[in-house]
Amino acid sequence: MNELVQLTWNSDIAIVTIDNPPVNALSLGVPEGISEAIEQIAADDGVQAAVVIGGGTTFVAGADIKEFEKFRSGQRPRGPGHLPLLRQIEDCPKPIVMAMHGTALGGGLELAMAGHYRVAVPGTQVGQPEVKLGIIPGAGGTQRLPRLVGVAKAVEMCAYGSPIKADEALRLGLIDRIIDGDLQAGAVGFARDIVGRPVQKTRDKSDKLGTPQENDAIFTAARESARKKQRGVVAPLAAIDAVAASAKLPFEEGCREEQRLFADCLNSNQSKALIHVFFAEREAAKIPDVPKNTSTIAINSAAVIGAGTMGGGIAMVFANAGIPVLLKEADQPGLDRGIARIRQNYVHSVERGRFTQEFVDERLRLIQPTVTFDGFDKADMVIEAVFEGMALKKEVFAELDRVCKRGAILASNTSTLNIDEIASVTSRPDLVIGTHFFSPANVMRLLELVRGKKTCKEVIATAMQLSRKLGKVGVLVGNCRGFVGNRMFHPYMRESVFLVEEGATVEAVDKALYDFGMAMGPLAVGDLAGLDVGWRIRKEYRHLEKPGVRQAVAGDLLCELGRFGQKTGAGWYKYDQNRRAIPDPEVTELVRKWAAEAGVTQRRISADEIVDRCIYALVNEGARVLEEGYALRAGDVDTIYINGYGFPAHLGGPMWFADTVGLQKVYDRILEFHRQHGSLWEPAPLLKQLAEDGKTFASFNAGVESTA
Ligand code: 3HC
Ligand code: NAI
Repeated sequence: MNELVQLTWNSDIAIVTIDNPPVNALSLGVPEGISEAIEQIAADDGVQAAVVIGGGTTFVAGADIKEFEKFRSGQRPRGPGHLPLLRQIEDCPKPIVMAMHGTALGGGLELAMAGHYRVAVPGTQVGQPEVKLGIIPGAGGTQRLPRLVGVAKAVEMCAYGSPIKADEALRLGLIDRIIDGDLQAGAVGFARDIVGRPVQKTRDKSDKLGTPQENDAIFTAARESARKKQRGVVAPLAAIDAVAASAKLPFEEGCREEQRLFADCLNSNQSKALIHVFFAEREAAKIPDVPKNTSTIAINSAAVIGAGTMGGGIAMVFANAGIPVLLKEADQPGLDRGIARIRQNYVHSVERGRFTQEFVDERLRLIQPTVTFDGFDKADMVIEAVFEGMALKKEVFAELDRVCKRGAILASNTSTLNIDEIASVTSRPDLVIGTHFFSPANVMRLLELVRGKKTCKEVIATAMQLSRKLGKVGVLVGNCRGFVGNRMFHPYMRESVFLVEEGATVEAVDKALYDFGMAMGPLAVGDLAGLDVGWRIRKEYRHLEKPGVRQAVAGDLLCELGRFGQKTGAGWYKYDQNRRAIPDPEVTELVRKWAAEAGVTQRRISADEIVDRCIYALVNEGARVLEEGYALRAGDVDTIYINGYGFPAHLGGPMWFADTVGLQKVYDRILEFHRQHGSLWEPAPLLKQLAEDGKTFASFNAGVESTA
């Protein structure tokens, strides 16, 4: 063998252990090692059966994603290259038992399905998540899975990529036994039980492949659902086509069809983007000056101040992670309203089947409502989520500093305010950090962690670790106005309003960006968040506006009419009782009249221009954020936009998208806007420099990391 795969014996049962930490990916050397072991097992008369097992915390989490670039460039054989190994395992005359724990994903599940039997410990997750990387299973997964679980379930697993747990896998026939206790011992026992039985080859099964009639309905429904739920993404449709081939074609031909579809997907920009997203998300957890071994503060209890929209959601997030949390409001009626909203949210989750009633009851017991500071002295971390106003935040933090124990972390959910100024009223600015959750906090994955000047490394490491525990993607950002996400969102929203002022309809602006892939159009987002929020902020900061610089006015015109968005039944759109948006010609007329008076020329505006104006505004500000060091890497900005702002993951995030368009092209277009619209379109110096040097934002990442 080699150092990645070991062969040992328990009397007449051979044990093949895959040992490629951290996730036993099928990197170069692993398939080769397994193949060598199987060859020995087949030839060894003393061996009756074999067990294949993963060393460490998991079975095999799939092909090595880092090697995909080599497949694309032809440095390694086209495709994952372990197809022949799977056939060799299936053809082995001795029964081979795949023993799974942790995860068996992608190529890992494909490997397991080539075995003659599968066993797993409770809680093991198995799945074909390839679509999340913009590809499809490439080593027979789309052909063997339907033979084991049936066409409908295989379509679901391959097109959506969500794993299933061992108990469901057992029910479906994907595994043969759940092993309680020691996996290796249990698998060896199972192997002894089946010695002498004929080996069963997955590829020879056909009883679950269904009839053409049944299958047509399944594929039609699956395609329709994939087009709707994974808008614009190619891989889910390719995965469905590949499973469809399994039901129509003999196994070998089906595998060839899978290979063809796999190669198309692998070479697509979508898969490059989604693989970037996978690694960017993991990279975001690495902070150059906060090493992995930095000590952390245990967060076993928490407290939240303010039971409004965000505070209530944040309390749910802690409770959902099993951390008891105090939730404090200013007065009893406010607290009752907050708790009622939390209960309502949980009721919806039970109705939608996300949680069981039992789980919800348990979580609700972890949230302790209060109007006093009693118990705050025991909390390991407090998150403030009161109204957005510096004076109030300072008052709250001064009080927290008095009542909280020494060593407790004090965090603010502010979306715009200066964390250093908030920290300055405490005696422990080193323990103050911004934890910017996104609305609804219990749903959105993003957590921007705002580092103040004095925030200590332990607090950063703790917040990063906590993000994971809370099921969030934590991204560390610097302390500038709006931090990274909202700072970039501002010019994006500004351009969407400018476009309306210049003659595009509200629907045309939203449609162009929705068609581009954004989860919602910007104006519909404004209506959802409440137009009054921005209006109040603009009024407060009016004194900072630079003379002669254009301001977006149309949103304010709506607010002056009491049109604050969904909450008042009208904003950019009108809303019916089901909150369905209805285009409103009154808005077009209102803006047309204003434009005529203000001397703004209205014209026809193409969907392309709408997208370029909005998306390049994001990119230009993203470049400034990066250059000024408020984000550590372009991938962090992408992670923020995908997880917090509905940017389509298959385009990789705004910075990756700009790289794929080509920075010279983006820069030229921004220069054009600069000439047409003035100083707001001043190109970011970093964009100019990278464009002129023929480089990418991704290459700027390397610069950051080399300083680590
Ligand atoms: N290839 C290469 N590296 C991988 C990997 C893979 N398949 N899966 C995980 N890693 C790396 C991560 O990048 C990370 O590296 P880092 O520590 O340097 O940042 C490390 O392993 C640990 O990963 P996580 O931080 O994600 O650890 P978790 O414990 O949170 O999650 C996991 C483990 C559920 C296995 C998760 O990593 C995951 O979902 N991995 C991807 C699984 C996947 O998509 N498999 C299919 C691959 S494609 C394929 O198999 C094609 C086939 O059809 C031929
Ligand atoms: P909200 O108005 O829904 O809730 C604020 C709550 O704080 C109210 O219930 C209020 O009664 C309570 N409160 C005020 N003073 C208090 C005090 N001294 N003690 C206890 N409770 C007090 O506001 P929302 O939207 O929840 O915002 C809270 C914070 O989160 C703000 O800083 C906001 O900028 C930020 N934020 C808001 C987001 C959003 O989409 N709403 C997104 C991300 C951050």
